[in-house]
Amino acid sequence: MNRYLQVAIEAAREGGRILKEEWTRPVHISYKGDVDLVTQADKRSEEAVVGRLRREFPSHAIVAEEGSGSESNSPFRWHVDPLDGTTNFAHHFPQFAVSIGLEEAGELVAGVVLNPCNDEMFTAARGEGAQLNGQPIRVSQADRLAVSLLGTGFPTHKRNQNPNIHFYWQFTLASHGVRRMGAAALDLCMVACARLDAFWEFGLKSWDTAAGALIVREAGGRVTDFEGKPFSPGDNVCLASNGLIHEEIQRMAATIAAGGPDLAPLPKLQVKG
Ligand code: IPD
Ligand code: CA
Ligand code: CA
Repeated sequence: MNRYLQVAIEAAREGGRILKEEWTRPVHISYKGDVDLVTQADKRSEEAVVGRLRREFPSHAIVAEEGSGSESNSPFRWHVDPLDGTTNFAHHFPQFAVSIGLEEAGELVAGVVLNPCNDEMFTAARGEGAQLNGQPIRVSQADRLAVSLLGTGFPTHKRNQNPNIHFYWQFTLASHGVRRMGAAALDLCMVACARLDAFWEFGLKSWDTAAGALIVREAGGRVTDFEGKPFSPGDNVCLASNGLIHEEIQRMAATIAAGGPDLAPLPKLQVKG
């Protein structure tokens, strides 16, 4: 196996072991914003993952969510989310992950997403396919939005400025439904292994998407913005799909963004007892 992927897998396992250990302890939460949480688990996992990457690849740049990364002139750049799904973790909701992606000269080349709660590990190396616990995975075959199951997410930062509720409503009406599970790196992997047919979100950071975007592509899917431009970690709009329903989603997103007249308005609030 590719050495970068091998080290990323080992680093993710170290982070995952820490998250499992912290899972059994009382959670100490501090806040980066009004609902942007950070716990001891985020910090300890990052220390382990970044420490490992730095020991193995001292010249590489590292971007890590809790700030312990470092810049360099190397073409290699790691993107580390030591705990994707912190809000879930803090509420004991077992959907969170360690996510580690590697870019070489701007191209995604390796990625690992590990959910330590159920021991599911998603991996990919460029040109070598994607795996779940070592077994090859493929995106779904759904070819229409109307028969698709979708995923999305909402940010914790500046959430009152996020436009997604409009998209959530329209895509809910147009599909089998939209799941909102709270860990974007895992949401992307759900597309890669065909549990979801597509996922979109606004405002994700490079550490949320670097690994998952590669895993989706290597599983045969497509990752772009809403206009179809290939997605790079850190771009504002992330649309990942099985490829077959990608353009239908793009068309619908354009209609929603334009406030098209044929869209169902949000219903007038009327709660009957
Ligand atoms: C968050 C999760 C969530 C997404 C947010 C992210 P964090 O990451 O991925 O699903 O909706 O936009 O910020 O803060 O738990 O690492
Ligand atoms: Ca995250
Ligand atoms: Ca995080």
